[in-house]
Amino acid sequence: MIDAAVRATVQAAMREDGPLLLLTGAGISAESGIPTFRGPEGYWTVGSRHYHPQELATAEAFGRMPREVWRWYLYRRAVCRAAAPNPGHLALVELERRLGDRFVLVTQNVDGLHLRAGNSRERTLQIHGNIDFMRCAAACSTALYPVPDEPVVRERDTPLDDAAFAALRCPRCGRPSRPHVLWFDEVYDEPLFHAASALGHARDAALLVVVGTAGATNLPLSIGAAVARAGRPVIDINPEPNPFAELAARTGGAWLRAAAGEALPQLLPLLS
Ligand code: APR
Repeated sequence: MIDAAVRATVQAAMREDGPLLLLTGAGISAESGIPTFRGPEGYWTVGSRHYHPQELATAEAFGRMPREVWRWYLYRRAVCRAAAPNPGHLALVELERRLGDRFVLVTQNVDGLHLRAGNSRERTLQIHGNIDFMRCAAACSTALYPVPDEPVVRERDTPLDDAAFAALRCPRCGRPSRPHVLWFDEVYDEPLFHAASALGHARDAALLVVVGTAGATNLPLSIGAAVARAGRPVIDINPEPNPFAELAARTGGAWLRAAAGEALPQLLPLLS
């Protein structure tokens, strides 16, 4: 998978100035058993209606049925908490240990697995938020609070009773809280989702390594475009074709058609 040409490209890039920028998507967590976003298992049933994530992960849905949206997030959180980091996550923890401040991780994943694996919050930009945190739905502040460990929604049909729903309130003002996740009808920003910082690192990056994303969201695509404009190479790790594989070819990088858990441990020695 990693031939002499890839080796030469990566080692030459790492001799340049600038951070090593990692960009991850749901694919890096697939081997931990967490369903990818656009896979068939992503739907959620309310009454007789099947909702896809893109319909439920919205401020509009939360405004209309907050308890149901919370129930979906608490179910997904239970799935995420039951999952363990895999060799792909652990390779990124070792990479940060070796590179220190030269390491920057931008993740679209809200599953919290990078932090649980051991990557630092300072160098991990969670541009879509984190399912382990909530914030005031009325935005009385931008403070993040840990989602209470109870209630746990283990099954898709576990109800969310009044007491459980009451626990999901803003500790500061007492009004309802909301998951700290970027919804499809919301926009990236810097204070909550570090969008400007992520793009700044892309402009300075020596090399971009993209892992497990379908390239369906605009900030990650802008990150790839910024790296390409700077004339720097992109390495894409994904078993399926995707826009970043094409970008890799255009930037003199490489598409490693493999699973994250297989490719990242092999790439680690070349990146550090
Ligand atoms: N290793 C690497 N890549 C993998 C693996 C694996 N083991 N398994 C699957 N993939 C790839 C798939 O081929 C696909 O391209 O991971 C990608 C997952 O794509 P999506 O499910 O669309 O997830 P992602 O790209 O992260 O979605 C981005 O969109 O829906 C919003 O906010 C949501 O964060 C999400 C964002």
